[in-house]
Amino acid sequence: MGEAYAFLQKIAQIHSRAPIERHLEILYGRAEVAGLAFLSVFRDAIERSHTGLPAWKVLRRTGRALTLAQYFHATREVEGASAECGVLAGFSTLLLCRLARHLESDFRGAGLHLIDSFEGLSAPVPQDAISSLKRPGGAVEYTMSHQAGDLAAPIEHVKSVLQDYPEIDFHKGWIPEVFETLPEARWSFVHIDVDLYAPTLATLEYFYPRLSPGGVIVNDDYASPSFPGGGKAWDEFMTRHDLPFVALDTGQSVIIKA
Ligand SMILES: C[S@@+](CC[C@H](N)C(=O)[O-])C[C@H]1O[C@@H](n2cnc3c(N)ncnc32)[C@H](O)[C@@H]1O
Repeated sequence: MGEAYAFLQKIAQIHSRAPIERHLEILYGRAEVAGLAFLSVFRDAIERSHTGLPAWKVLRRTGRALTLAQYFHATREVEGASAECGVLAGFSTLLLCRLARHLESDFRGAGLHLIDSFEGLSAPVPQDAISSLKRPGGAVEYTMSHQAGDLAAPIEHVKSVLQDYPEIDFHKGWIPEVFETLPEARWSFVHIDVDLYAPTLATLEYFYPRLSPGGVIVNDDYASPSFPGGGKAWDEFMTRHDLPFVALDTGQSVIIKA
């Protein structure tokens, strides 16, 4: 098992005995995005979407959600539509929708495109392995943190979570083929949260050339102990095109198009 993954398991045990709610209040209780009280919207989105929040993940997830909301806010004046690739139960989408409605009281989801299989992860490839073992004879055995089909949430559930935003465009299908259902458009904001190497790379290849100047792509899995492929795909794309980006302490990576 990878060292980073073992570390997570240790953290899960430690966090399970810590006063996490108090830590959250101290760290994020006064955080605002464009005047919107972040922590209460975060908690509400977690609850309404029935998103699990394991003990090891709670602080990382809160920090990542705040970052996501801040970058989304920063692109509201940039020309183009928004997309989220990797929706699961709709937690991060609901958070962004709440912020968009706070900024524009008539926001009903127009211009927001959600892309997901709604059948969970596609098949991991060797780049997604958390560890590997070379067997005598040369065969390599890969250990994955997740399998194809994990992290599935039915589209009906997500639609009910997001029922206050009836103009959202849902695109159900596998990346990259599902991109054929998207309108040919400019994009201002893209959230990549598909965990795995292949769909992360395909998403960058699709959206980066179509991103408006000043537009932003946030990758949730740049430094994820369970999903190393998300960071490998990002690095590969950025190196190939010689693009500058930032790697955040939250484990996300972000690029602003020049
Ligand atoms: C970590 S979850 C997304 C979490 C979500 N953003 C949230 O806030 O809770 C990863 C999602 O990526 C989707 N996914 C993974 N690989 C995919 C692929 N190749 N095509 C389409 N969707 C995929 C899964 O169905 C799952 O919903």
